[in-house]
Amino acid sequence: MSIQLNILQPEGHSLQADDLLPECLHQFLACPTPDAWLQWALDNPEILLIDHAQCEKKAASTAMSLLYRYVDQPLLLSKMSQLAREELLHFEQVVGLMEKRGVAYAHLTASRYAEGLRKHLRSNDPDRLIDVLIIGALIEARSCERFARLIPYLDEELAKFYRTLVKSEGRHFEDYLLLAKQQTAASIDDRIAFFVAREAELITSPDTTFRFHSGVPS
Ligand SMILES: [Fe+2]
Ligand SMILES: [Fe+2]
Repeated sequence: MSIQLNILQPEGHSLQADDLLPECLHQFLACPTPDAWLQWALDNPEILLIDHAQCEKKAASTAMSLLYRYVDQPLLLSKMSQLAREELLHFEQVVGLMEKRGVAYAHLTASRYAEGLRKHLRSNDPDRLIDVLIIGALIEARSCERFARLIPYLDEELAKFYRTLVKSEGRHFEDYLLLAKQQTAASIDDRIAFFVAREAELITSPDTTFRFHSGVPS
């Protein structure tokens, strides 16, 4: 299975991808996904699907751990419970597509991305929770942006699936951001700006391994 991307070609396509994204998400991320990552993804369609499945499973697991840790926050509980269910549904859908396409589910090492953000977590709540929620918002926002960037180059079945994901991951981004802001009466804008900048470094700098959230090929 291979998909060829002509980066120079589809003017209409990139407009189409941008049109799929909510405006607030565009403004939130510091940089778009580089074309070099896009080509890397299309050269590795099987790893893209396997790592995508991993990401959905991890997203559900992160939401579940928040459900255990913050039982005194009703809005967080309802949002994270719904989110975990949706991520597991996405997981099932990706695994279903992999089976249909004969892609074997192998273990993959994690990309540097999530750890590259989490290493900046502050130690004590509410600071720690605020950081976890900002990172959650960033991961959802970047996933949403990458699905939208990929859509114009995918077969109809995968493109249709990713269009549904753009909608739900966009909603998850907003939920995480809302929950982060709700943790304190003070502004968290500086903290958001800090993580947005770290995220952009991870996205634009050379990376050794292709994954869904990799930087660019080194
Ligand atoms: Fe998802
Ligand atoms: Fe999500």
